[in-house]
Amino acid sequence: MENIILIGFMGSGKTTVGKLLAKHLDMAFIDMDEAIESAQGKTVREIFDEQGESAFRTMETKYLEQSLEAKNMILATGGGVVMRPENVRLLDEIGTIIFLHASLEQLIAQLRNDTKRPLIQGENYEVKVKTLLEQREATYLSVADVIIQTTGKVITEVVDEVLDIL
Ligand code: S3P
Repeated sequence: MENIILIGFMGSGKTTVGKLLAKHLDMAFIDMDEAIESAQGKTVREIFDEQGESAFRTMETKYLEQSLEAKNMILATGGGVVMRPENVRLLDEIGTIIFLHASLEQLIAQLRNDTKRPLIQGENYEVKVKTLLEQREATYLSVADVIIQTTGKVITEVVDEVLDIL
């Protein structure tokens, strides 16, 4: 089967859904943030703090370039990956892009106690989530090959829906 790429906002369930899908489909699961963290020997937060967001985005691009030959892979991407057009071109070449679409309310609830994601730390994380989502939603929708609504669904329902569509 063609590689599957999961895109969507932070907290939309890309990693959890991806792991389960990989089990069902007997495919390899890769979480891009984790792959970058282990290659760099640093957490995403440390990378943002020490080198800045733009350096992290370049690491994402490099990772995708290295993945062009990958086979039988489910790739859970970081929520900001689609904001670089170059990355979108690479994702398109790598596989089928599935957007996990969650409502603002669901994302806010999911991200409430987050300490790992640098872009939503500090006061008023709800406003940060809302602003970023507004900046990104149209891009997620336009680059996706498949859109799955996840709001109000449990993970197994989302996975079943993806399996039905493939
Ligand atoms: C980011 C999302 C994160 C991670 C980094 C930046 C973003 O990944 O790549 O914190 O810009 O939306 P998840 O979507 O897996 O949380």
